[in-house]
This record gives sequence, structure tokens and C-alpha cells, in this order.
Amino acid sequence: MKRDIWQELVKPLIYLAPMSGITNKAYRQIVKSFASDILFPEFVSIYAMHYQTEENSRTMQMLEFDESERPIIAQVFGSDPELFYEAAKKCKDLGFDGVDINFGCPAPKVAKNGGGCVLLGDLGLSRKIIQAVIDGVGGEIPVSVKTRVSYKNTHVRDFCKVIADLPLSALCIHGRSFEKPYEGQSDLDCIKEAKGLVPFPVMSSGHGHTPEAAKETLDYTGCDGIAVARGTFGKPWLIKQIKDYLETGSYHEPTQVEILDTMVLHASMAEKINIGRPFVELRKVLGWYIKGIPNASQYRAQLVRVNSMEEVRVVVKNIKRQLTNQ
Ligand SMILES: Cc1cc2nc3c(=O)[nH]c(=O)nc-3n(C[C@H](O)[C@H](O)[C@H](O)COP(=O)(O)O)c2cc1C
Repeated sequence: MKRDIWQELVKPLIYLAPMSGITNKAYRQIVKSFASDILFPEFVSIYAMHYQTEENSRTMQMLEFDESERPIIAQVFGSDPELFYEAAKKCKDLGFDGVDINFGCPAPKVAKNGGGCVLLGDLGLSRKIIQAVIDGVGGEIPVSVKTRVSYKNTHVRDFCKVIADLPLSALCIHGRSFEKPYEGQSDLDCIKEAKGLVPFPVMSSGHGHTPEAAKETLDYTGCDGIAVARGTFGKPWLIKQIKDYLETGSYHEPTQVEILDTMVLHASMAEKINIGRPFVELRKVLGWYIKGIPNASQYRAQLVRVNSMEEVRVVVKNIKRQLTNQ
């Protein structure tokens, strides 16, 4: 293998988890500027990669990345081993530093075709898919899997037992079930158990919204890293805070002015690099930055209508003026 970043990078790994509809280039790059160890583009369908219609060209655009984003890993979903093989080969040829298989998505559009978390319910097919991806990359880049605690009656421990002998490079577990995809506490006992069942590094997802929660996860489960997702909403600096906390026991909480400046930087990155209509994609994301600021709802209403950098700057100027008049 040219390079197995899961082995090579210093543990614990703290990185931005894949998020469909969120982790576009601008989002990735703003989080990377705050020390994310690994990045993932939005996940892509193996069917869209195979049937390259005009509509599916959006899929290939989603797989574009800059050299500065390395290490970057493509995540693919579907349920057909042959198309997984082909998709894995393409990801390798596109220059990705790894391929990750999605065994965790609960969304109907993925589940209805037997992909994502539903695959946990068919351990034989899961194994075939992993083997197909391993064959597809031909040993040149690492293969990893992201899944959940359970699907119906199948627990991730059953999955771990079935995949433990495969040459995988990492397993990431979101500590919630298919049936309760984002509700309740993430199950740290399950991650701790999985860590004892497979020989490759295990990552935790779902209990890393604060530096304290991230440390608790690492201490309790003994896992090798944390994939941070929603905690970065309006807080792209969270990964840096987690790393600082693990290293020194403290971290910097940005001032309101620093937060607004980061928001402007994020918007200007999106303006430069996002394909299509950058401000349409950005509007909800910008609103996350002003949570907790007095009169936030009034400013959020303005941010959901912005069409240019100029308009973003006007809203930010008004917020800063209000902050200095307090
Ligand atoms: C909007 C959104 C999109 C997501 N898309 C993906 C995805 O494409 N692939 C994936 O493996 N997980 C996806 N997830 C799950 C996250 O990667 C993560 O495992 C989950 O949100 C739990 O982590 P958190 O509590 O830090 O948010 C998504 C989550 C959210 C909120």
C-alpha cells in the first residue's frame, strides 16, 4: 500500500465526519483550517458513479477536491458488490487517500435500495461488499467502514465478528441505532466492546460535541479517534478545541468578533470554490454562527436571503455595531 493514513497518523484522530448536504469543499476547508486530521466529501452513490448521466455529473463534482485537503477519503453507498468494486477503483484513480463504505445511513433514499444501515442486517452481503471494495482498490489505498450500533436485530458486535479477519484499516461506529438515528445518548459501551473485537483502529461518532465529551469518549471506550459531525455546526474550530483540551486541559473559546470573522471567511471560501449557487448552500450554515447573539433571529432572517459577499458583510457589520453598543 502506498500509504495507510489510518495507521500513519498520530492517534487519537480527531476529524470531520462525512455529512451529506454539508461537507462540501468550503465546509471541509474551513474545518481543515482548524486542524481536522481527515476530510470526507459528501457520500456518493455507486449507481450514480456507474451510470454517468448528466444528472449524475453532480456526483462527480462532489468528488472534486484540492491537494490542500489531503488526507481525504471518499465515502460510497449502495448494495451491489460489482458496482462497489468499480466505484472503489474509480476513487483510487481519482487520487483519494482511502475509500470508506457507508453501512450507517438510515435515510429512506439509501435504505430503500438496501444500502447504508440496512446492510448490517445481511452480514453475508456486507462481507462481500467489503471484499469487493478491497479488491477494487487493489491494495493501493486503505478501506474503512462507517456504521451504527444496530439495525433491527443485528448488533454491530455481530458485524465486528464477521469482518474482523478482513484487511480493513478502520471502523467508525456512530453510537445510535437505525431506528433512533439521532435521538438519545450515543452508546459508548458498544464502541468499547467493538474496540475489543476487531484488530484495526476503531473511531467513535456521536459523543464529541464538546471537548469534554470527546475526552470522555476516548477515556471510556479506549477508541482510536473521534469523527465530529454536528458539533461543528457554526463551530468549525471544535476539532482544534478538542485537540487543545486533550493536550493541555484547556482551550480557547472564540469571542463574538472572532466568530463573525470566521463566518465571513467561510462565506468568502464558499464564494470562491463552491460549485453552483454558493449563497443558496451557505444560507443555513451562516445562521449557525450567530446562535446566542442578541436578536439572532432578526439577523438569521437576513442571512437566509443573502446573495453576495457584500450582503453578508452588511449583516455582519450590523451585528458588530450592535455588539459594541451593548
Ligand atoms: C446532515 C447530516 C448528514 C450526514 N451524512 C452522513 C453521510 O453522508 N455519511 C455518514 O457516514 N454519516 C453521515 N451522517 C452521520 C454523521 O457522520 C455522524 O455519524 C452523526 O451525525 C453522529 O455524530 P454527531 O453527533 O457528531 O453529529 C450525517 C449526519 C448529519 C447530521
